[in-house]
Order: sequence, then C-alpha cells, then structure tokens
Amino acid sequence: MSDKLPFLDQTLDLEARVTLLMERMTLDEKVALLRGKGFWGTPSIKRLGVKSFGLTDGPHGVAPHSNNWRKNTYFPTGITVGSTWNPDIAFKFGEALARETRANNKHVILGPGINIHRTPLCGRTFEYLTEDPFLNKEIAVAIVKGIQGQRISACIKHFVANNQETKRMSVDVKVSRRALEEIYLPAFKAAVMEGGAWSVMACYNKIGGLHGCENEMLLKETLMEKWGFEGFVVSDWFATNKTRGTASCLNAGLSLEMPGGPFGAKFFKKKKILSAIKSGEVTEETLNSNLRRLLRVMFLVGMFDEPDTVPKGARNIPEHWKIARQVAEQGMVLLKNENNLLPLGLDSIKSIAVIGPNANKKKGMWGGSSEVRCMHEVTPLEGIKKKCRNRVKIVSHPSDADFAVVVVGLGHKIGMDTEGFDRKKLSIPNKHVSLIKKTVEQNPNTFVVLVNGSPVSMEGWVEDVPVILEAWYGGMEGGHVVADILFGDVNPSGKLPVTFPKRLEDSPAHDPELNKDGRTYPGIRDSSDGQFRVYYDEDIYVGYRHFDTREIDPLFPFGHGLSYTTFQMEIDKQMPRSFSGDDVLTCRVNIKNTGLVAGSEVVQLYIQPVNPPVQRPLKELKGFKKVFLQPGEEKIVEFSVTKASLSYYSDDKDGFVASAGEYILNIGNSSRGIKIREKISYEG
Ligand code: BGC
Repeated sequence: MSDKLPFLDQTLDLEARVTLLMERMTLDEKVALLRGKGFWGTPSIKRLGVKSFGLTDGPHGVAPHSNNWRKNTYFPTGITVGSTWNPDIAFKFGEALARETRANNKHVILGPGINIHRTPLCGRTFEYLTEDPFLNKEIAVAIVKGIQGQRISACIKHFVANNQETKRMSVDVKVSRRALEEIYLPAFKAAVMEGGAWSVMACYNKIGGLHGCENEMLLKETLMEKWGFEGFVVSDWFATNKTRGTASCLNAGLSLEMPGGPFGAKFFKKKKILSAIKSGEVTEETLNSNLRRLLRVMFLVGMFDEPDTVPKGARNIPEHWKIARQVAEQGMVLLKNENNLLPLGLDSIKSIAVIGPNANKKKGMWGGSSEVRCMHEVTPLEGIKKKCRNRVKIVSHPSDADFAVVVVGLGHKIGMDTEGFDRKKLSIPNKHVSLIKKTVEQNPNTFVVLVNGSPVSMEGWVEDVPVILEAWYGGMEGGHVVADILFGDVNPSGKLPVTFPKRLEDSPAHDPELNKDGRTYPGIRDSSDGQFRVYYDEDIYVGYRHFDTREIDPLFPFGHGLSYTTFQMEIDKQMPRSFSGDDVLTCRVNIKNTGLVAGSEVVQLYIQPVNPPVQRPLKELKGFKKVFLQPGEEKIVEFSVTKASLSYYSDDKDGFVASAGEYILNIGNSSRGIKIREKISYEG
C-alpha cells in the first residue's frame, strides 16, 4: 500500500507527507476539501484513502447533535473551568475531552471558547472562561495542550471579539488595537504560540468593518504572519454567508467553510471556487496554501497513521466522570459564609430543607451548540439526599428544618445562559428572589446555592442570607460536589474568574456615561449606512480593570472565593527590588495554612504601575498559583516578573512596551484582597 501512497509512510516528515498527498490530488479534489460534507465533516477521497475529517461540538463535552444523539461525559462549563484557576486540572479536562472526541470518531473538538467576558449579559458567558486575559491564556493553553496531547485538534473560538450574542451575525465591533492586543487577543495568541493550537474558528461578527472569515488583518497578518499559526481556520457555522464572498474569505486565509451539503454555507461551493480561480481573484497558490493548512492537521491527528500508533479514545468512563467532578470541586466558589456556618456536620444537624427551581433540574441538555447528553446527571437535591441518607432528614418546609438550602439561579432558557441570545437583566428571575425572601422569613439559616453560568446581581437578598455558594453548571457530577462542599468533604477553592457587579450600570460596557443610546451595549444602528455597530469605548477597562481604576465597589470582586481554612502570605524580604532589560525578577511568597483543615489557596499577583506615561488600569493580574496545603503546612510560591509583566500596548511602537519606573507588586487572594504590597523598579 505505501508503494502506491507514499504519504502513508510515518517515517517521513510532516510537510513532505502533505506534499506527497497534495501532488496526487486533482484541482477538483482539492476544492472539494475546503467545504464540509454535511454539518460535521469533510468529504472523503476514496481513491487516495482520504477519510472524512470529523468536527464536533463542543467545549464541555462531545455534543449529541454532532454525534448521532449519543451520550457522553458532561463536564462543567467554561466558567467553572476558569474558576478553578488551575491549569493542571484544565489540562486533565482537555485530555479527557479529547479522548471522548476520539471515541466518537471525530478529529476536532470545537473548543475551548475563549472570548472575554465583556458584559455579564452575554448569553455565552457560561461557555467562556473569564474576563481577564492573563487567566484566560493560562487556562486556554492548558486545555489546548491537554486536547492535542491526544492528537485531537482543539479549535479555539470565536476569533475574535465575539462578546455578545445580540446581532452576532452582523454586528460590527469597533475596538481599538490596544484593547484587542491587551484584552481580546492574548489567549488566542498564547493558545497558538505556547499551546500550539491546530485550528481556529473565525467568528460571525465584523471587526473594524470586516467579518471574521474575511478579515485579512486578523487572519493573515496577526494570526498567521505575526504569531506563526500553521494550522487551519474554519468558519463558524454559516459565518461566511454574510461576507463579501469566496475570494475575500480564501484570500484572508480561511481553509474550511462549514457546514457543507445542500443546506450549508454558500461561498466555498466547487463552482464558486473554480470560477474565482479562473477569474484570477484567487490564485492556485492561495488555494494550495489554505488546503495545506487543513491537510497538515489531518496528518497531525493521525488520519494517515497506523491506528495503533494513535492515542486511543474512550467515552463515558468513570475516569472521565471523576475528572468532571474534580473540575467542579475546584471550580465552585463559596461567595459568603457568615459566622463559618459551613461546613455542616452530618452528625450535628437533624434536618435540612432543599428547595428551589434549580434544586432538581438537569442542565446538560440545553444551551445551544455546547449542549451535552450524558448517562446520568446528579442534581443538587440528589447529591444532598445521597449524602444525608440515614443521617439527616430531608424535609420540604424550611420552617421544619435546621437549615434551608435554596437552589436558584439561571438556566439555559432564552434570555438566560444560552447561545444566540443575550440575557435580559442581571438579576435572577423575580420568582427566585421572592423564594429566597420567603424562605429567610421561615428560617434565618437559609443558604443560597446558585446554579447559573454568568454573574448575577443580588440586590434585596444578599444581606439576608449567611451563605452563598456559586455552583455554576457543575457538569454531570455537580450535585455531589454541592453536597460535598456543604458538608465539608470538599474544602471549596474556586475563585471568581469574573467580577460580580452590584448593578448592571457599574459594569464597564453598561456605564451610562459611555453607553449613550446603547452605543457600548448592545450597539446602535448607524443611520448613514444602516450598519449595526457596538463601540468598545470602555477600551482596556474590562472587568476589574474598570472597577478598580474607577473605584467602584463590586458585589464580589474578581478572584474572590472563600475556604474553610485560613492562610497567611508573606513575601521574601530578601528579594531584589529592581531589574532591567530582559532580566527576570523573582518574587517569592511563603503561603501557610493557618487553619485546622487542609485546603487550597490561589496566590494572586497584580502589578500596578506608579505614574505610568500612558493611561493604564490600576492593576493587572500577571501571575497566580493554586497551592494545596495541609493544616500548618507552608510552601513557597515563585513569580517571575519580566518585562512582559509590565508592558502595555503602544500604538506608536506597534507593539508591547515596558516603561522604566516604579511598580507595585500587589499579592493577595482576590483583586480586592491584597495582603502584600511591595515596590520594585524597572530600569528599562
Ligand atoms: C457556534 C459555534 C459552534 C458551531 C457548530 C455555531 O453557531 O457559534 O460555537 O461550534 O455553531 O455548532
């Protein structure tokens, strides 16, 4: 066989194998590969043994709609992964997701979703990781490496500035180069340059007047030329339809238009590509280069290798359920715990009431393209019941119980956490608020468990309840984890990856000063040309960058999350206080568990420039480390402060610049929980 098809020779180098395959392809065959066959794969070329290259949703589990309605492991959603602040668990999650993908005979998993949480109202906040570019990149790189270590292609999405669902297909995002470079691009850049991502999904929206699929500045110049991306760009599903057409997408570097088939997207149909080539609008060289990118990944995922040399897949195995559970354990965030009411003791209480619309609702099946069907999904009620069996009575009336747990929040209904639509308001539904209030009247020991995937306001009830646990969408094992946290089998260690504002107007995209007529959200129609545009006038002041710089008190700050133990942080006073050029300044922090139980803390480093030459956020996250400690145990955490940690994007220099001067290292356990402030200087 390998005599006939030399590209099957695994000893040859990747580019040589791709060349050998391309040399054997006719123009028609090449063109056919650039558009899907149906919704979830490319056509095969029997003659050359090229099988269909399979793509599947989605970011927190292999989706039913792209896999014959099969059940697969339902992992916690992106915001929960972001809340772990733990690249190691993100890596394991990526690995498991890839094995599930392989077991479904697919080669590309359409995730992770790494758009920034710009507004809490974005319907897909639950799928994305965080509001902060540094946390985003650390977690994204880990997920990509986890996936691709299994020789499955990650597909980072949606490139870029797809930060709202309202008019997502047509909105033109007006964002400065500086905000792109400092906020919206870093995770994509790192996923490519550090994570080695093999594919990128181009977004629906326009950026600076051009849709993602035809945006040469973003695809060609930034992604490919500046970052050296060698994989392929796929359109979001039907995203090419609104572009200027075949030539502009091909010339921008798009390799694959999805979906295909009679009801698919329209511009990479064979006739259209051939006619663009004939007219000279597209050269064969461009076609070959775009195809080479796609074929390269087909080789990388092992489509032309002996099956036993490619990592094996597996799905729905207890090991993956365990990973789903670990992500939830590390991602749920204890927001409030007055008088250390938690954890509860199974032996010290007699009864507990578990009520509320989210207490027994399964969440996996909905939310848009990221939905997952799974074999079992443990709800909070089921988890608590199992834990309490034969020990604590579960009652339905709060007044009859020692403690009441009200499980409220959002869901994947339109207007809540769902694709295609944004949320309507920041608060949870009025009915949920009334239920909390009523329960508090019946029992002051009322705990709120939130099941939702984006920040919510808590006006009118936050002061009245002593305990609030943010459980997010915790995947198929989430209910067990809620019970484990309530009863202390798991010491919570999740930290908010996004600021919780008190009121929507406090949030940067909704600041009434900026948001005249909806300019910064959801956008306005320009009467001169009829184009709907959203202006990112808050610029680089996204998330806590806005709250901190403008001194607005959040409801719960970025990075916040409580534990059942206490920690003490101390900086090594012997550290150097200045550095220059490309040197590295190492800052050591001693962290000690000063409480009575084992637990994890996330040591967070925020760097604050003193008198910067340009406007800058008060401080920015530039390092973090999650540390697990037994009672009394201590460890040293090391942060490397480099030129890059101090830099901002300069339009004049068209690149990142670190100005000489003083900086303060703020070290703590949230953006507002700063425990140590240490001044350093950079000599330039
Ligand atoms: C979504 C993508 C998804 C694709 C395929 C699109 O509508 O924006 O995230 O991967 O559909 O389902």
